[in-house]
Amino acid sequence: MKTSHLIAILLVIFLGGAALYVATDMMLPGPKEDRGSGQPSVGGPFSLTNHLGQRVTEKSFAGKYMLVYFGYTFCPDVCPTELQLISEALDLLGKDADQVTPIFITVDPKRDNAEVMRDYVKVFNDRLVGLTGTEAEIKAAAKAYKVYYNPSKDGDAENYLMDHSSITFLMDRQGRYAAHFSYGSKPEVMAARIRKFLKAEKD
Ligand code: NI
Repeated sequence: MKTSHLIAILLVIFLGGAALYVATDMMLPGPKEDRGSGQPSVGGPFSLTNHLGQRVTEKSFAGKYMLVYFGYTFCPDVCPTELQLISEALDLLGKDADQVTPIFITVDPKRDNAEVMRDYVKVFNDRLVGLTGTEAEIKAAAKAYKVYYNPSKDGDAENYLMDHSSITFLMDRQGRYAAHFSYGSKPEVMAARIRKFLKAEKD
């Protein structure tokens, strides 16, 4: 699902040179601009079970960036496509990928138990963490990330599709929203954006 991006105009006046800097594309500004007041409040605490059956919270992933994507393993095309793109972005990051934990949170906990998640995530990337939980835990996590999901009307109790938002969130080392990527974003774009954040930490 494509999300249309609002055009943001950010004016940055540098005291020294009194230089005026105008950025008009929300997808382009660097890390510091993202911390502005227009920052969406996305993310927050969660308590879930990883694909190894261990209980985890957002604190389990603190200290690294997180790439968070909600979907489900029975998804015929959207989820596999996005997870593949995330995986390629990580490959492009090379050693910098150590600073990022890619996380796939199921919106279909009824079918996606830890075992199903374990078999699924390894298809895409060794680094990929699959998270599941109770219906209530998943609902709370999705709410925190403002992710929509709903079983589609077609199908029966075992074979059904899920409608769901398809956005990849980049969260910083403290678990705060840093950026997001709409469905189908190029791996090069994701990798470059992450690199920008990593570089900003060194400046
Ligand atoms: Ni999907």
